[in-house]
Amino acid sequence: MCGIVGYIGDKKAPPLLIDALKKLEYRGYDSSGVGIVVPGDGNIVLRKAHGKIQNLQNLLRSKPFPDSSLGISHTRWATHGVPNKVNAHPHRDCTGKILIVHNGIIENYESLKAALQKKGHKFVSDTDTEVIAHLIESHYKKDLLAAVQKTIKQLKGAFALGVICSDHPDTLIAARIGSPLIIGLGKNENFIASDVPAILEHTRKVIYLKDGQMAKLSKDNVEVFTFAGKSVKPKIDKVTFSLDAVQKQGYAHFMLKEMHEQSDVLKQMVQKRIKGNTFHLEELSTLDKELKNITNIIIVACGTAYHAGLVGKYVIEALSGIPVTVDVSSEFRYRNPIVGKKTLVMAVSQSGETADTLAAIKEAKAKGAKIVSICNVIGSSIARESDGVLYTHAGPEIGVASTKAYTAQLCMFYLIAAKLGVVRGVVAKKDIDNVIQALKHIPALYKKMLKTKNAIARVARSNAHFGCFLFLGRNVNYPSAMEGALKLKEISYIPAEGYAAGEMKHGPIALIDEYRAVVCIAPESDTYEKMISNIQEIRSRKGKVIAIATEGDEAIKKHATHVLYVPKTHKLLTPLLVALPLQLIAYYISVKRGCDVDQPRNLAKSVTVE
Ligand code: G6P
Repeated sequence: MCGIVGYIGDKKAPPLLIDALKKLEYRGYDSSGVGIVVPGDGNIVLRKAHGKIQNLQNLLRSKPFPDSSLGISHTRWATHGVPNKVNAHPHRDCTGKILIVHNGIIENYESLKAALQKKGHKFVSDTDTEVIAHLIESHYKKDLLAAVQKTIKQLKGAFALGVICSDHPDTLIAARIGSPLIIGLGKNENFIASDVPAILEHTRKVIYLKDGQMAKLSKDNVEVFTFAGKSVKPKIDKVTFSLDAVQKQGYAHFMLKEMHEQSDVLKQMVQKRIKGNTFHLEELSTLDKELKNITNIIIVACGTAYHAGLVGKYVIEALSGIPVTVDVSSEFRYRNPIVGKKTLVMAVSQSGETADTLAAIKEAKAKGAKIVSICNVIGSSIARESDGVLYTHAGPEIGVASTKAYTAQLCMFYLIAAKLGVVRGVVAKKDIDNVIQALKHIPALYKKMLKTKNAIARVARSNAHFGCFLFLGRNVNYPSAMEGALKLKEISYIPAEGYAAGEMKHGPIALIDEYRAVVCIAPESDTYEKMISNIQEIRSRKGKVIAIATEGDEAIKKHATHVLYVPKTHKLLTPLLVALPLQLIAYYISVKRGCDVDQPRNLAKSVTVE
């Protein structure tokens, strides 16, 4: 949700800022901008464009930047003010000397703006961000760091900031609370960025700025302070993932690449966690006592991660007998949830930065619950806020529609459910072992399924003209139906609903006619016959059915219009397998309809606003 980059060093800042910004485009792509300080004359030069970063690049071809070694850039996901050139960042103060980029929301901006306007400050945009530039101006007495410090004290909300000033061509200021910001340490150059991929080409040495910290960067020095001005010795981390991980590597889209990566991601997880007949979740061992005594689990998450949580509910209940509820984070936090000291709250989040999920676990913590999170991004805010973190290590996910992070979350839920099952001992050990042993085979099954992608592509393309899709599933695959529908609507903009198949007769059946396609998730299960009845009900109303069934199920062919097969596995694990054809259906339909697969309209990968 908005991407920030800042550079100070020996190289030419403008091209570097644009290249780095492109790596953050997944965070928002409504508009973008770059601002630099010109050495010598100390002028500020600003270029902004509506729409994707490509538009900014086109503008720079006709209006190139002068040389500069200090600048900030921003790619926006609009919150306050429509996406246009005026509302694009960077924003500046009245003097035009101070430039800022911001990710987050300033909740008290209206009162701050009114007070500043009274004092004569002139605003040009509709953004909350612009108040920050004017506030810094109002505090600025030649000491930029001090002015930013004073400004921060007046701000309520979440922010990651990059600030430069034409009086200080050798200084870049950064600050964060609630929104992510990292510092990249180079040789005669330093960076700030919202996420690692932006700077990976230049350095692997990073400081993950913590909430309530700010930094002053020059080309050969970085000082970190608390907002109160106390100097802090930062921890320097080394990024381990390769540059390849953030490049398409010949794939047409990041989403396609990330779908292909799933077999390796799952293989790594399984190899790390399951050794012979035993499995390991050391991260939870300090919580063994609590896990034995918990009365219930609440899973909080948003979007795709929420669907992973819903699968988690079925699996945890099946293997451990612990009651689980799953809440959308934004609902949980505003409904005064019943959370006791014996409630375990689990947060699921790829980015680890989703504002609603972060707020939800803070709320739960305040009520005395223990928090365990499943995150992909190391050191993210949700991970840091948790008592135990289980990292999925799926690598950077760039496509806005989540794929490999989802299946990695599912895999983690099977392991957690097994762990809880062992700790609680209410389900036979043999039943838990069966799931764990079957999990070991999933990576190879993924490899096998990927070989059938052309067949899936054909089915998807031949159904791409339908104006409405229904996805039906039962039991553990009810969440799969919701996820299949979400994937399709996210990237193809086709209205799609995911329903429990048993509920079809209570509403969705009214939608069915020859113009609707229904994806029926029907792998071998205790409710298979019920799904077949659903398929017949759809067919007798002329609806088209794409069935996802278990290999060897020839009988289903006489009911469904198309059948896509997944290999046989343990029935609790079927959501892991059906995820792939569901992702591929959405992908190929999106491509066929000419949509922007990796950057669908209005969405952002990491939603750091509430
Ligand atoms: C956004 C993304 C989704 C993602 C959701 C939750 O809506 O577009 O793909 O599932 O946020 O993100 P998280 O990082 O918390 O998993």
